[in-house]
Amino acid sequence: MQPTSDEIYRTRKQFFNDHAEGWLNHCYRNPSTGRLDKHEKDFERLFSLLPLKPGDHVLDVGCGSGVLVPFLMERITESGLLYELDFAEKMIKVNRGLHERENITFIVADAENPPLDEACCDIVICFSCFPHFQDKVRAVTALARTLKPGGVFVVSHFDSSDGINRHHERCHAVMHDHLPDEAGMRALFRQANLSIEKYTDEAGFYCIIAGK
Ligand SMILES: C[S@@+](CC[C@H](N)C(=O)[O-])C[C@H]1O[C@@H](n2cnc3c(N)ncnc32)[C@H](O)[C@@H]1O
Repeated sequence: MQPTSDEIYRTRKQFFNDHAEGWLNHCYRNPSTGRLDKHEKDFERLFSLLPLKPGDHVLDVGCGSGVLVPFLMERITESGLLYELDFAEKMIKVNRGLHERENITFIVADAENPPLDEACCDIVICFSCFPHFQDKVRAVTALARTLKPGGVFVVSHFDSSDGINRHHERCHAVMHDHLPDEAGMRALFRQANLSIEKYTDEAGFYCIIAGK
């Protein structure tokens, strides 16, 4: 029997809660340096594409245990504001334990329902999480609402869309989680009144940058 969408949602959330403690080590530890720098070059590439500046307000969606926090804080500085949002409360607990500071707000919420004011963010970034959103039209529309006019919406992975989809198919808890193809992403963004300015989907790197 096929699982219901509620069962799929609960299984996915349980999976991320169960993996919160070891997430950074599991995904980012480089065995040859012992540091969390396995994707250093990819992060350099990603952040070279993002128009972040001191004072910016940024929403980091599906933030997990906060791998982006140091990169974002370095760019928005103490004068900026960072919202770390994830639906898995244990991810937020670990993230808060590692990164608590005055200008970071930790939020347990679904991407489809971010409890933020309209037009409060300069940048919304969905890093390594977009395929997991249950209703992608609702999520993109709700997240785009938090962007200021002229704000930037980013979706990124350190793999191609094919690579990401194959990876998820092999893991029971997220086997239904799919990154749409280019036409599908363009249609989703159009529905949310976002215009795609840069679309990259290649071996080892995926990035969409769109403007509001
Ligand atoms: C693959 S992990 C990536 C975490 C982090 N961005 C990183 O790269 O280390 C996906 C994250 O998205 C979160 N997530 C999945 N679906 C979500 C949703 N609908 N709303 C908010 N967060 C979600 C998960 O809890 C998990 O922390």
